[in-house]
Amino acid sequence: MEVNQILHMNKGDGETSYAQNSQVQGKILSVAKPIIHEAVLEILSSNNIESMGIADLGCSSGPNTLPPISYIVDAIHAKRSGLGLQLSPSSTTEFRVYLNDLFSNDFNVIFMTLPAFYNNLKQEKGPEFGSVFVSAVPGSFHGRLFPAKTLHFVHSSCSIHWLSRVPPALSNTPEEAAGSALNKGKIYISKTSPQCVLDAYSLQFHEDFSSFLKSRAEEVVGGGRMVLSLIGRPSSDPTTRESCDQWELLAHALMTLVSEGLIEEEKVDAFNIPYYAPCAEELKLVVQKEGSFVMDCVEAFEIDWDAGGSLSDDMVASGQQVAKSIRVVAESMLESHFGKDIMDHLFRKYAELLGDHLSKFRTKYTSLVISVIRKQ
Ligand SMILES: C[S@@+](CC[C@H](N)C(=O)[O-])C[C@H]1O[C@@H](n2cnc3c(N)ncnc32)[C@H](O)[C@@H]1O
Repeated sequence: MEVNQILHMNKGDGETSYAQNSQVQGKILSVAKPIIHEAVLEILSSNNIESMGIADLGCSSGPNTLPPISYIVDAIHAKRSGLGLQLSPSSTTEFRVYLNDLFSNDFNVIFMTLPAFYNNLKQEKGPEFGSVFVSAVPGSFHGRLFPAKTLHFVHSSCSIHWLSRVPPALSNTPEEAAGSALNKGKIYISKTSPQCVLDAYSLQFHEDFSSFLKSRAEEVVGGGRMVLSLIGRPSSDPTTRESCDQWELLAHALMTLVSEGLIEEEKVDAFNIPYYAPCAEELKLVVQKEGSFVMDCVEAFEIDWDAGGSLSDDMVASGQQVAKSIRVVAESMLESHFGKDIMDHLFRKYAELLGDHLSKFRTKYTSLVISVIRKQ
């Protein structure tokens, strides 16, 4: 599976669009706000910056795309207001904001929202705030995206748990899988997965996160910072409910379609999701091993599967809501492997299973937020 060419969040603003179903990501973003604020203040107090380079990696296009930029601008504004700094025209800082995502991201939708964004900025912060130049940089954050030493602050939310590829040990064709499937009937790490599946996922994440850090190390100036939020897990055990349940239930839904004769079992055996939920220790280890950044802090937050919205007593409705939130992120990959025709049926089944699950367990996501500093 060519993840970089296939993966995209569901487009548009319809019922099953990412724009309408990204409340979980919105929550993950908002809990990181104080950490973003703190990191930006630290950058400003230790550097004299005339032109500040800011990047958001895996920005998607939807209600969560521009808020991180507002958080950053708010922090800068608060710092200046607090200091009562009167900026002379010659010292006006400019802000170069780069929004990154994969090539198939709908950047045009973002561009359409920029006039309102610029207007708000001017009204809220005043004309003396400085100029904000937003541009788009398509490409994979697992490699280089920006010229050397051009960034002061990098942010990413809910994106770097996506792997650059399915771990190669697992990515066999349906024909190969018929004889040798390692992760039979599953699409991610599961309690029943053999150790080699756990190892393959962990290895791929370590490889990808290392390349991510290595690339950013070239691009971020000494003393520059990154705040990265991603879905992780609360303990070192990668088979806990918190890290696997959503995929376990999706695998169950796929196997129900196998029993109904709608898809072949080998197709399920050959499908694995290019995603990995690390624990905090793993993140620290990779940062330390790669060696270009110093860990400032790691924090973990519990996030409800429905972002704290309506996990009410109506488990049917809750199941439907959570199913949609997974559909909008995973459908591009499922559709490319299983075809479009089964998607509605698959996600109806999935919603039922989720509703039943939520009536027994209140599994939550773990959001890990790390703040790191580029060594001088
Ligand atoms: C769940 S969305 C999060 C979007 C947004 N940051 C938010 O909080 O709503 C994950 C985004 O990461 C992007 N992504 C995944 N892998 C990527 C990669 N290797 N390079 C750049 N973007 C990537 C996806 O295309 C997707 O838009």
